[in-house]
Amino acid sequence: MSARTLILGISAYYHDAAAALIADGEIIAAAQEERFTRRKHDARFPENAVRYCLDHAGATAADLDYVAFYEKPLAKFDRLVATQQAYAPASFSTYLKVMQPWLHAKLHLRRELHAAFGGKYNRPFVYTDHHEAHAASAFFPSPFEEAAILTLDGVGEWATTTLGHGRGNRVELTHEIRFPHSLGLLYSAFTYYTGFRVNSGEYKVMGLAPYGEPRFAELIREHLIHIRDDGSFWMDQSYFNYTTGMTMTSDKFHALFGGPPRDPESKLTQRDMDLAASVQVVCEEVMLKCARHLHAITGSKNLVMAGGVALNCVGNGRILRDGPFERIWIQPAAGDAGGALGAALMTWHQVLSHPRCATPHDALSGSYLGPAYTDSEIRSLLNAYGARFHAFNDESELLSRVADLLAEEKVIGWLQGRLEFGPRALGARSILGDPRSAKMQQVMNLKIKFREGFRPFAPSVLRERSGEYFDLPHDHDSPYMLLVAPVAPAKRFADSDARMSGRSGIDRLNVTRSEIPAVTHVDYSARIQTVTPETNGRYYRLIKRFEARTGCPVLVNTSFNIRGEPIVCTPADAYRCFMGTHLDALVLENTLVLKDEQRDGTRFDAEQYKQSFALD
Ligand SMILES: [Fe+2]
Repeated sequence: MSARTLILGISAYYHDAAAALIADGEIIAAAQEERFTRRKHDARFPENAVRYCLDHAGATAADLDYVAFYEKPLAKFDRLVATQQAYAPASFSTYLKVMQPWLHAKLHLRRELHAAFGGKYNRPFVYTDHHEAHAASAFFPSPFEEAAILTLDGVGEWATTTLGHGRGNRVELTHEIRFPHSLGLLYSAFTYYTGFRVNSGEYKVMGLAPYGEPRFAELIREHLIHIRDDGSFWMDQSYFNYTTGMTMTSDKFHALFGGPPRDPESKLTQRDMDLAASVQVVCEEVMLKCARHLHAITGSKNLVMAGGVALNCVGNGRILRDGPFERIWIQPAAGDAGGALGAALMTWHQVLSHPRCATPHDALSGSYLGPAYTDSEIRSLLNAYGARFHAFNDESELLSRVADLLAEEKVIGWLQGRLEFGPRALGARSILGDPRSAKMQQVMNLKIKFREGFRPFAPSVLRERSGEYFDLPHDHDSPYMLLVAPVAPAKRFADSDARMSGRSGIDRLNVTRSEIPAVTHVDYSARIQTVTPETNGRYYRLIKRFEARTGCPVLVNTSFNIRGEPIVCTPADAYRCFMGTHLDALVLENTLVLKDEQRDGTRFDAEQYKQSFALD
C-alpha cells in the first residue's frame, strides 16, 4: 500500500466523465474519459481515465484510501422525481426515459462503483454536492489564500448557481439559485434554438454572437428571465421545455421569437447571429451582477469560478473588465469533468481537514495532468505505419525547424508532454499556425477542422508581451484561455472598421482587421492564453523561437482534433488526424513528420476520417 493518502475523484453518468487522483492533497493526474474512448463528452463510468490515473501513480484500486464522487445521487433523484411530479401529466411521456437509467443503475451507484473497481476497492465512498465539487475545483487549486466563489452551470442536484467564500482549507457556499431557474439552461435553450447541439454547441453561440446585434435582449429580459439587482433570477417555465420534454424550448418560445428552431443543416442567418448576441448579452449581465453582489457580501479582491457557464470566456472577460475583482482564477476543467478533481480535493481538505497552502501560480501544473508518450514509443509507432520522419536529438534544432514551417504559413499538429485536463488545448495537443496570415482562419476552419467558417481561433502569447497585443485589465494572466479581451488598438488596422462597414455577418471576417488577423474576431476580441516558461516549458520556447524568427510573440492555437472529435490523446490519434486532414506537418515530441514526404499509399481518406465523427 502507498505511504501517501490516495484519493480518486470521479465524475460520471451525466456528461463529460472524468477521473482525478490526488496524493496527500497534491494533484498528480486527471483526465476525461472521452480522450481514451474517442467518443466526445463520453459520460460512461471513466474506466480508462481511472486506469490511467492509477497507472500514473503506480497504484491499484486496492491502494486507494478514498473514492469521491462529484454529486449526491439521491438528492439528484429527488429533484428528478419532484420535477416529474410537478409537471405531470405533461411529463409522463418522458418519465420512463428519464427514470429508467436511474432505477437500473444510478440509484445503486455504490454497487456500480464497486463493480467498476472489480471488487478490489473496499474503503469509503464520499459523495459531495455537485456545486460543492465545482466550488472546490475552483478554490483549492487557485493561487489565492482566500477568494469569493461563483459557480454557474446547467444543473446538478438542485442548485444551478451558487455564491460562496473560500479561505484556507474551507469552502462555504452561502447562496444558491435552484432548478429550473438556470443560466446554463437558458444559454442551452438558445443553443438548441439556433440549431446547435446542447452541451457542446454553446461555444459556437458565443463565437457567433459578435456577428449579431442584441436586438432580442429586451424580449428575453421581459419574458424569459427576470433578473434582480443582486444577480438572482427567475425564469418563466412556460417558454421552456426542459422540465417536461426532451427538447429545450416550447411553442410559446418559438412564437415569441418568430419561428421554429433552426434546422442544424440550414444556413446561418443574421437573425441567428442576433439571437446569439442577445442571449450572450443577457448571460453577461447575470454574470456581472452575481459577481458584484458576491463582492459586496465577501469583500474579497479575488474571485474563483467553475461550472459550465464559467467556460463563457467572453462573460469572464466582462467580469474582469467591468466587475469589482482584482484577480480572477477559473478552473480550466470548469464543466462537469472538473467535478472529479473538486470531489477529491473536497475530501482531502474539508472532510479530512488537511491544511492547504496556496501556491503562487496555482496547483494545476498548467492543467497538463494527462498521459505523455516517449520518443521510442512514437518512433516504433511511426515505423509500424510506414511513415517517413525526422528524429531530432536537439530541441533547439527541432524548434527552429518548426518556427520556420510556421512562418511559411504551414499548419502544424503539435503533441508534446502531458495531455491537457479540460476542454481547451494549451500547447500539449494543439494545432498551431501563424496568426499574421490573412488566410489562416479560413484554411484552419475549412481544410483542417472541417468546421463552420465563422468560428474564431485563439492566440497563445508570451506572457511578457501580452500587454502589447491585448488589453487585459490589470495586465492579468490568462493561463487557461478562459478570458476574452480586445486586441490592443495599436495592433489594429485603422481602416478596418470602414472596410467592414459595407459587409454584413460572416463576410466581415474576410476583412483583415489587425496585425494578427487569424486570432482577431470581428469585434476585435481574442480568447487569450498567456504562456510562461515556468508553466508551459517547451511550448513557451517554441513561441520564443517564432518570435526570434518573425518578431511576433503570438501563435494561433486550436485544439488538435477535427469537428466532432475529442482532442487527440495518443501519438496514434495525432497521426490519424494528421493523415486524415490537410495538416502540413506533425510534431510528436522530438519527431517531425512532413505531409509532402509521405507516400500516397499511407494517406487516409479525409472524407472517411471526417465521417467517423458525428457533427457536434
Ligand atoms: Fe455542473
